[in-house]
Amino acid sequence: MEQLPAADALSYVGQDADSAWSTYLKQVDRVTPYLGHLSKWIDSLKRPKRTLIVDVPIEMDDGSVRHFEGYRVQHSLSRGPGKGGIRFHPQVTLDEVMALSAWMTIKTAAVGLPFGGAKGGIRVDPKQLSQGELERMTRRYTSEIGVIIGPQRDIPAPDVNTNGQIMAWMMDTYSMNTGATATGVVTGKPVHLGGSLGRVKATGRGVFVTGTEAARRIGLDIVGARVAVQGLGNVGGTAAELFTHAGSVVVAVQDHTGTVFAPEGFNIEQALAIVQREGGIAGYAKLPGAERVDNERFWDADVDILIPAALEGQIDEARARRIRAKLVLEGANGPTLSGADDVLAERGVMVVPDVICNAGGVTVSYFEWVQDFSSFFWTEDEINARLEKIMREAFVHIWNTAAQHRVSLRTATFIVACERILMARAERGIYP
Ligand SMILES: NC(=O)c1ccc[n+]([C@@H]2O[C@H](COP(=O)([O-])OP(=O)(O)OC[C@H]3O[C@@H](n4cnc5c(N)ncnc54)[C@H](O)[C@@H]3O)[C@@H](O)[C@H]2O)c1
Repeated sequence: MEQLPAADALSYVGQDADSAWSTYLKQVDRVTPYLGHLSKWIDSLKRPKRTLIVDVPIEMDDGSVRHFEGYRVQHSLSRGPGKGGIRFHPQVTLDEVMALSAWMTIKTAAVGLPFGGAKGGIRVDPKQLSQGELERMTRRYTSEIGVIIGPQRDIPAPDVNTNGQIMAWMMDTYSMNTGATATGVVTGKPVHLGGSLGRVKATGRGVFVTGTEAARRIGLDIVGARVAVQGLGNVGGTAAELFTHAGSVVVAVQDHTGTVFAPEGFNIEQALAIVQREGGIAGYAKLPGAERVDNERFWDADVDILIPAALEGQIDEARARRIRAKLVLEGANGPTLSGADDVLAERGVMVVPDVICNAGGVTVSYFEWVQDFSSFFWTEDEINARLEKIMREAFVHIWNTAAQHRVSLRTATFIVACERILMARAERGIYP
């Protein structure tokens, strides 16, 4: 197993060179040569500002007591309060939470939101818990991390296996502990509890906006463009819907229930209804014009645009050599392994990276936080218009940076973000 250079090694995480945190460190190393005098501050990006590990004990319904391991990592607070989701998953590790918190620092800076980056999680399979156990675990975890979160300190949000109900419990617990209702302590809340209109579709809408901008610049007409989507959930489903309404044709869909091709195009409303009703896309294969195919064939689909919007680590080097799309839009976090990134670049496939492509969600989370502070709520049209403006301007800046330095959009996004973070770091100086 390859070891990290001693200077980057932190004693509290493993030194596995393939881990998420190591992947992030390599991405930082790649941009350091472009940062000029700011590179003096680069080590501040290579260690999280604050790492909290908490024990979460709860009484189970059967009277026994179980302990869960929880984390909240604040990677950087140089540009503002921490921002990032909470993940409930049995394989959550400190290393993963650290990497996800760092990518939030990059994402918020790339889009120009006044936040740093943070992330949290509990090592648990929430499907094994009753509703009461889930609520007790969420409340105890919120109390434990309550010493470092807050509307002006660090604002959690939903991530894998957490949702609006969990955010409502978190908001209530924090408010009970501080003695005043603090809606701005979390985002992704139900709309009647200070949540924002437009949040549900925001990430998919951002994928569509950045995708349309990228397509135009590589001479790809989205009217008639053939699209493959992995994951027809919140992100992939919305992106598929918006591309279809703009005249593109979704011809391949893969999710956890299987892979379906529809060479003449999916009826996207019908596909989404089947996913809603049956929990997956497999049933669509029974309709005329559709066929179920072997999962691995998804990567050979004859398409112009590929949208991975499901899991991390999906595109390895072998798949990267087979992909026929001209444009890859990373709706998911970390779907492309770093070796595969180089293969796609060599083959001239344009990749709009996760750190800008899926930033629509955190952008509307920012709107939710602003609306909570002012107790004044915007219409969905206002939210969508502001979202599109922010995403479009961020994309154009990153595109121009990539052209100027002749680098990929991923490296360009890191250059733009790291410059902003390190400039704030330099201007604030080291305390005391
Ligand atoms: N929801 C957001 O606002 C948001 C924001 C930023 C990034 N993301 C990222 O986008 C991705 C998708 O998130 P979501 O909110 O749409 O989740 P979701 O749960 O709504 O959808 C996930 C989709 O992935 C599919 N999937 C699961 N296992 C699969 C497998 N083995 N093979 C193929 N497909 C599989 C599921 O069937 C489902 O269609 C995640 O990587 C998430 O971190 C989401």
